[in-house]
Amino acid sequence: MSLQSVLIIGASGYIGRPVAQEFLSQKSKFARVAILSDVSKVEKFAEIAKSGMEIVVGSFLEPDSFKGFTTIICMLGNHAMKYQPEIIDAAISAGVTNFYPSEFGSDISQGAYLSNRYFRDKQITREHLAKVAENHKGFGYTLMITGSFAEYAANPVFGIDPEEGTFDFFGPKEKKEPFTGILDVAKYVVASVLMLESKNQSETPCRTFRIPTAVYSWEEVIQTLSRVQGKKYTCTYHPNSEAHKLAQKYASEGDVDKELGYALKAMIGDPNEEGVPKPWDHDKFPDIHPESLETSLRRYFGK
Ligand SMILES: NC(=O)c1ccc[n+]([C@@H]2O[C@H](COP(=O)([O-])OP(=O)(O)OC[C@H]3O[C@@H](n4cnc5c(N)ncnc54)[C@H](OP(=O)(O)O)[C@@H]3O)[C@@H](O)[C@H]2O)c1
Repeated sequence: MSLQSVLIIGASGYIGRPVAQEFLSQKSKFARVAILSDVSKVEKFAEIAKSGMEIVVGSFLEPDSFKGFTTIICMLGNHAMKYQPEIIDAAISAGVTNFYPSEFGSDISQGAYLSNRYFRDKQITREHLAKVAENHKGFGYTLMITGSFAEYAANPVFGIDPEEGTFDFFGPKEKKEPFTGILDVAKYVVASVLMLESKNQSETPCRTFRIPTAVYSWEEVIQTLSRVQGKKYTCTYHPNSEAHKLAQKYASEGDVDKELGYALKAMIGDPNEEGVPKPWDHDKFPDIHPESLETSLRRYFGK
């Protein structure tokens, strides 16, 4: 099979930047690698364009933007990921044969993830992909299930304030979370696209890669952060139900960001839920040797 032509959407985002860099560093293995940019945002990509990345200027809602590409990597954030069903339709009509939806987190095919508000647009996108794949022979999609980003262990989203040295969590300290460093996520994405070259047409249209590096209890996460930063943390553990109540309160006030934030905190703290159940798929990537949480955090803090 011929080499893949890859178009990246959301390349200026948190996970988009390292993924775009990794594609650039392995560019010779692809027929084409490019970033899709809205005309108003091209300047954001001036530096990576100088390093050799192709920039396609256009809208992700127009089939013309996707012409000549086989694979789309979509890394839109919370607000824009709702456009994915339209993006997928535009991509398919332009001849795209594989789509990576903006997943990059927990396995949302199970447990309370199926109904939690935070994952609604990801669920709608998955449903759409399954439906269109039935009607378009030769079209497939890939779900990258990474667990949490290791660098997000230092992010307020999870209740951690690395400056103040505080941790505010809606669940028990024994609750476990799977993590992958973002540089490793980028390597897995690129390696999984390269595997498409040997994909058997009779395979199911959906490929799923579960690739967290390891799971850690939140107590271990805080101990690791504390060691890396050389800082003592003050931890407050709230009942999980409080996060659900706060998500409902902000939903009724129309504050979508806070509603989503607390829906996510409720999910992460829920002692009955597991982010990425095993089996995992590391054996499919023998050349990738992922970082531990501590190594990722040391890199993040420059220690
Ligand atoms: N597992 C984890 O711990 C974790 C953590 C974070 C994110 N994630 C997941 O990773 C994925 C990407 O999230 P992120 O945090 O990397 O996103 P992000 O930093 O918010 O970046 C989103 C990207 O989408 C682009 N974008 C947003 N609105 C757009 C629009 N209307 N038109 C065109 N482009 C638009 C942004 O470009 P502009 O800035 O130019 O608008 C940016 O490049 C999501 O699925 C998210 O759930 C997982």
